[in-house]
Amino acid sequence: MLTPEITKRLRSTAVEILSVNDKGNYTVPTEGLYPFQWNWDSCLTAIGMSNVNEERGWTEIETLFDHQWPNGMVPHIIFHEKNAGYFPGPEVWATQRPTPTSGITQPAVAGFALQKLYQRSERPDAVKTRATALVQAIDRWHQWFYQYRDPDDQALVAVLHPWETGRDNSVDWDSAFERVPTDGVGSYQRRDLDHADASMRPTGEQYDRYIWLVQHFRSLGWSNQSLHDNSPFRIVDPGFNAILIRSCEALAEVAESLGEDAIAQRNHDFSARGRLALGSLWSDAHEQYVCYDRANASLVDSASIGGLLPVFALDDGAQVKKLARRIDSLCDRVKYNVPSHDPDDARFDSKRYWRGPIWLIVNYMLVDGLRRHGHNELVQRLVSSSLGLISENGMAEYFDPVTGGACGGKNFTWTAAMVLEFLRDDVAS
Ligand code: GLC
Repeated sequence: MLTPEITKRLRSTAVEILSVNDKGNYTVPTEGLYPFQWNWDSCLTAIGMSNVNEERGWTEIETLFDHQWPNGMVPHIIFHEKNAGYFPGPEVWATQRPTPTSGITQPAVAGFALQKLYQRSERPDAVKTRATALVQAIDRWHQWFYQYRDPDDQALVAVLHPWETGRDNSVDWDSAFERVPTDGVGSYQRRDLDHADASMRPTGEQYDRYIWLVQHFRSLGWSNQSLHDNSPFRIVDPGFNAILIRSCEALAEVAESLGEDAIAQRNHDFSARGRLALGSLWSDAHEQYVCYDRANASLVDSASIGGLLPVFALDDGAQVKKLARRIDSLCDRVKYNVPSHDPDDARFDSKRYWRGPIWLIVNYMLVDGLRRHGHNELVQRLVSSSLGLISENGMAEYFDPVTGGACGGKNFTWTAAMVLEFLRDDVAS
């Protein structure tokens, strides 16, 4: 139970973390480990920021979109400043952008974030021009997804690198990753291990494969026409698609209220078709959605949190109910919630990044979807577990669902942003 004193302390710590990681017009996820701007971190952070400084929330997203590629892609990292403490840096990506960026993308949560900011704005007329500019930019990104990552028009997009999913070392990628070679990668020095415990990070072999893919895409000149078909890693992730589908819906609604009718129509269509197509990823065996490996045409046998994220996007109450049951069952099996992988799977690892640990941003998206469908008890369960975890262990990058212990980087921006969200009455109740 949170007392008013604890609530006050959590709020002020969260505000402090946002300010420490604030570089003026963008935030870094945390000093040291991640010293640049990350795509979905910034969008989720902007939502949390809107509780303390609406203006700053808008600039967070605008800065990200200032670095959108001419083809519509929004990169996963913007290297605003030089910093030798991160690998792989701009020289490895070699994308030839005016401000260096990576060459891959990340979950498209911007449309959803924009809608939150717009709905909450105290001065909707004053932000109309900025909102319209962002609507147009986000629409170009959504079009890029369906053009280049869904070449056969299946209404589901593929990710070409685990880093695109935001769930870097999930069990979901293991089988496809075995097909990614490591020869010719050369030697390099990982910098993440200077800042975080090796037992909580991806393994050396996984890292070689991450880097092989980057080098491969670079050798293809980052050309979107070639990347999809030439990548040995081509996965349709239900979580990634659910986030995109929800953002298309959110963008359509904002576009409608701004009189951007063509954009509204296009994004309504993307989301309606995407929802239908998600059905092909359902697994009766796991009672949830699973990934589809497009490079070898098979479903992936892995029950991760990505397959529960469709609660964020679905409008079918019966499907959401099944997922709610499954989330509840995961919660029954660990002390803190929600684990990012099924604890009964032998591949579950309570400390290693996305193979078991809890991430508050995921809890937030689950809570949002569950609330829309009236699963209020489960919402309460997730919100109080999230806030309990934070009040005992601080605003870390992720948490061990068995012990509740803090893992990865400390003083994490998007964790702090989500705390501000969970403290709102309209999210927690
Ligand atoms: C890790 C996470 C990713 C996040 C990034 C910055 O790579 O897996 O989701 O965007 O860190 O916080």
